[in-house]
Amino acid sequence: MKIDFNNMLQTSIGEHGIREQDIQKMAQKLPQVHKNMCAKKDAMAWRSLPYNQAEIVADIKKEADRINANFDNFVVLGIGGSALGSKALFTGTKHLKYNEISREKRGGARFYVVDNVDPDGINALFDVIDVKKTCFHVITKSGNTVETMSQFMIVLSKLEEVLGEDFKDNIVLTTDKEKGILKKISNQYGFKTFTVPDGVGGRFSVLCPVGLLSAAVLNIDIDALFAGAKEMDEACTREDLWENPAYMYALLYCTAMDMGVNISVMMPYADGLLNMAEWYAQLWAESLGKRYGNDGSVVNKGQTPVRALGVTDQHSQIQLYTEGPFDKVISFIDVEKFNTELKIPDAPIDMMDAAYLQGQTINKLIASEMRATEYAVTQAGKMNMRITLPEMNAREIGALFFFLEMATAAAGEFLEIDAFDQPGVEAGKIATFALMGREGYEEKAAELNAVQGK
Ligand code: PA5
Repeated sequence: MKIDFNNMLQTSIGEHGIREQDIQKMAQKLPQVHKNMCAKKDAMAWRSLPYNQAEIVADIKKEADRINANFDNFVVLGIGGSALGSKALFTGTKHLKYNEISREKRGGARFYVVDNVDPDGINALFDVIDVKKTCFHVITKSGNTVETMSQFMIVLSKLEEVLGEDFKDNIVLTTDKEKGILKKISNQYGFKTFTVPDGVGGRFSVLCPVGLLSAAVLNIDIDALFAGAKEMDEACTREDLWENPAYMYALLYCTAMDMGVNISVMMPYADGLLNMAEWYAQLWAESLGKRYGNDGSVVNKGQTPVRALGVTDQHSQIQLYTEGPFDKVISFIDVEKFNTELKIPDAPIDMMDAAYLQGQTINKLIASEMRATEYAVTQAGKMNMRITLPEMNAREIGALFFFLEMATAAAGEFLEIDAFDQPGVEAGKIATFALMGREGYEEKAAELNAVQGK
């Protein structure tokens, strides 16, 4: 994986770029950032995931074999960090029409992620799966999340309709080792259960059972995922800013934030990576969007992530990115070698002035469009940077996950905020409990009804 930050700088894009002295100024924080990143390594337990899960991975693979041997479909029920990693892994490494190709070509069950409570969305799934032949992976770290628990209840009732009480094999749970309703259910009913390790927050959990069971069911090479992550870990723990891509990313993006650049667009040029941009959006937004700094003062930090897809969004958003305000930085993601090389053939009709395309490849077209867009935004003086993946495979995806996690953690240190809590999410969760009549939340319900005039 190659990372090019040049177009963040004034030397490349002119007056709206970052200057040498801006880097020097932010770099004054680096010794403390590095010290904290080292001191908090154990507390950031997600950093150890590529190294310490041999036993659990063996169990996950066994479970995945059981699932693929017995079921036609594998469905993840979860939301936020309990779903987005699986989605990014899936489309980042597998056939883009995976569920439509033959089972022989897939080599396993069909794969779905349900991460919303849109009634039509949930119901649509039951129109295309046979629940008897479906294994559901229910993931909630807290064990209480209202969306996931509701989905779980719907699934249980559907299973009971067709299987009576004999549905234990159709359910796998992943949750905290002791807290939450899901853990209590696991204890009482004995469903196969995996654990989210302590110190691994939802949005940092893709490399633990939260994402790994999906990976194993999808026959994604977990060793390669870990190898990519380890490679990045090695690079992203170096002290020297110029040798550490995560520190450089964090430093430049935090400098940009100080300059009022408060939007971070991730724009991969590959359909399969749009879900990576979704995953990044949660990581960056939920980790860095904070009212309070570490010292308790009000800081209102953060940068709004936007997902865009190249080339599709060249025909919807690029006009704004090129000519609009200087309030965003674009992270392009480029893929050097796609799995397919697709030639534009000679057409059986006269293509007139479009004939120059004949004999070229779609691969050259997408690469050219990325370079052309990068050129246009750079000429327009807009901050941008590029991550180049040699290929889309488990190793590169593992490296990308880990790089962005390390960059986010380092950005939290530069911003002097807690990148690992999410009080703003919790507030919404609590209000929903109240509105849905959960016991113990009566006072909150009264407060909400009073404010909303009900
Ligand atoms: O990153 C996070 O902590 C959150 O986005 C959670 O993943 C999300 O809220 C779902 O929580 P849970 O896994 O507890 O159901």
